Amino acid sequence: MKKLAIGLLLAGSMTSAPLVFSAEGLELAKKSGCLACHSIEKKVVGPAWKDVAARYKDEDGIRDKLIAKVKKGGKGNWTEVTKGIPMPPYSPRVKDENIEKLVDFVLAL
Ligand code: HEC
Repeated sequence: MKKLAIGLLLAGSMTSAPLVFSAEGLELAKKSGCLACHSIEKKVVGPAWKDVAARYKDEDGIRDKLIAKVKKGGKGNWTEVTKGIPMPPYSPRVKDENIEKLVDFVLAL
């Protein structure tokens, strides 16, 4: 039931990414604890993931940079949004493989 609700939510809010992948990505984000501070549409503690995707859409090598950021944490890219709160490190709490999937998910928004 929960999965269905998420799927429907995404179907309404997303246009480009395929639904199956998106629902999976969101589920992974939830399991990994990301949604405590992020949502797709709105700033929570961290920036809205749609804003992250929009900011970097033309930037070369951004996938690797964001993977490194999620692994090691960091701050300074969204100070105007977060007032300087840092992004916590997620490696090895979240497997590298899943961090890559999460970054792909965010960049596809
Ligand atoms: C405790 C709160 C918190 C949690 C939990 C969290 N984030 Fe963040 N995240 C932040 C903050 C704050 C920033 C902004 C950092 C900055 O200003 O550079 C951020 C930034 C980001 C960015 C953009 C990085 C950049 O350099 O522009 C991505 C991508 C991201 N988070 C992904 C994730 C993923 C994936 C997870 C789960 C594995 C996660 N976050 C969990 C707080 C959080």
